[in-house]
Amino acid sequence: MKGSLPGELVIDRLGLRFGGVVALREVSLTHHPDEVLGIIGPNGAGKTSLINAVTGIYPPSAGSVRYRGTPLTGLSPESIVATGIARTFQHNQLCGDLTVRENVLLGCHLRLGYGVVKAALGIGPARRAERRLRGEVEPLLELLNLEHAADERAGSLPYGLQKRVEMARALALRPTTLLLDEPAAGTSDADRAALVRIIKHLRGEGSCSVVLIEHDVGLVMEVSDRVAVLDWGECIVVDTPEVIATDARVLAAYLGVDDTHADVSESA
Ligand SMILES: Nc1ncnc2c1ncn2[C@@H]1O[C@H](COP(=O)(O)OP(=O)(O)O)[C@@H](O)[C@H]1O
Ligand SMILES: [Mg+2]
Repeated sequence: MKGSLPGELVIDRLGLRFGGVVALREVSLTHHPDEVLGIIGPNGAGKTSLINAVTGIYPPSAGSVRYRGTPLTGLSPESIVATGIARTFQHNQLCGDLTVRENVLLGCHLRLGYGVVKAALGIGPARRAERRLRGEVEPLLELLNLEHAADERAGSLPYGLQKRVEMARALALRPTTLLLDEPAAGTSDADRAALVRIIKHLRGEGSCSVVLIEHDVGLVMEVSDRVAVLDWGECIVVDTPEVIATDARVLAAYLGVDDTHADVSESA
């Protein structure tokens, strides 16, 4: 994937149902190469579902997704990662007993397809690649401000650092598109500042475009080129942060009186 251009992700009339619950309804959205696309919306709006449908965790019930011209619909999550899309999870999915460095190294191994067991046992090509991959890990630790924690057990770290370890591991896959699901949730002001710096770095470097799902609307407005707003599974508007900030539909979505919509006060 090295040297390839960041990809265009085209989401076309995507639908996702869980029994009677409509998580996504005809969502159409294009993520252009080189842009940071923010996705906001009240709790339960379908933000995580959108990432899950794009990355193959849940097969969509309608519509399609294409990445750099390749249809993703129907592909396994592993095959979708191989097209250049990496993600982080709203609830961390780190190997808590491994060190930070080992977690990031695991991302490198996964990229090369050696798998966890061979990597852990140091078998065959995994062993031969080990030294080279270790060299890849250090710049990622530096970018994510994690050098000081490299030898700590990932599970023992404060939440904000764990979030950055997840980002480092995702970046170890050398994605051309990175999907971040609430990277700032539950983190400190310092973590938030680090996150802004990292996203701006990725944006400036141009090697990896970013889709940022966040509850922290201010953060999204600060780093995004465009912002999409989901509400009740629908994409109600996509525009620049300046326009979004004053859009009547967005204010209505956030100021709705329903309980599931009442969380905007924490994030505005
Ligand atoms: N695995 C699932 N099973 C059943 N319902 C789900 C599942 N995932 C999400 N949903 C439902 O889909 C809707 C959207 O959820 P989600 O995508 O998590 O929203 P958000 O990330 O915007 O808070 C919610 O009503 C949620 O309860
Ligand atoms: Mg979510």
